[in-house]
Amino acid sequence: MRVDVITIFPEYLSPLDVSLVGKARRSGLLDVRVHDLRQWAHDRHRTVDDTPYGGGPGMVMKPEPWGEALDEIIGGCGAEGAPDAGVPDAEPSAVARPVLVVPTPSGTPFTQRVAAELSTAPWLVFTPARYEGIDRRVIDAYAERVEVRELSVGDYVLAGGEAPVLVMVEAVARLLPGVLGNAESHRDDSFADGAMASLLEGPVYTKPLDWRGREVPEVLLSGHHGRIARWRRDEALRRTARNRPELLRATDPTTTDRADRAT
Ligand code: ADE
Repeated sequence: MRVDVITIFPEYLSPLDVSLVGKARRSGLLDVRVHDLRQWAHDRHRTVDDTPYGGGPGMVMKPEPWGEALDEIIGGCGAEGAPDAGVPDAEPSAVARPVLVVPTPSGTPFTQRVAAELSTAPWLVFTPARYEGIDRRVIDAYAERVEVRELSVGDYVLAGGEAPVLVMVEAVARLLPGVLGNAESHRDDSFADGAMASLLEGPVYTKPLDWRGREVPEVLLSGHHGRIARWRRDEALRRTARNRPELLRATDPTTTDRADRAT
């Protein structure tokens, strides 16, 4: 997968060099390119913002630098009559058309399902904004050429979209084939599909058996896979009921069994 990020704070994206995402990059599974938006601002101060039409507090990101940046990075793809090319250093057939991901608190929620959808795209272009956001015409113009996803990582307002990009890239990268060592390791994730759909993951334990007088639950030592699976599901149900009751209410009753209802 190819990922481009256009930002006025390229250094903010340096965590993409470490841990899981960094390893995916080094092993060639992920091609991340971070661009400084100011390289497409041409005045002496490399201005990227201006006052909002209609008044109001804050500044708005100017359309020209974003338009130039996206034209250069996305190329002609999706434009009327343009071939699916114009992508520098990339195989045009594999990365013909990107999904444009616009982080914004006004977007639709970024969920595990959205992460899974994005993980099937060959190419993502992120446009993290600062100030009050990007001039609307940029998003409207590109929505005519490529798929645009305006996404929020939560019901709070951050100073910019860079931290949401870190969140989204990590959530997507760990779903790419070959990125996680054990192909099963995200099967039981909170929010994953499958037996634990819509349930939060329960507690986990490792050695030592006794830590400061606290022992590991005995069932986990029993070697009885059926009992262990039942215990894990009960713990997941309990934790979900306590921390996110609305998830339980949304659970399809046909995915629960009689033993669940006794929990
Ligand atoms: N930019 C600022 N706050 C944000 C949020 N909650 N989600 C996505 N982008 C943002």
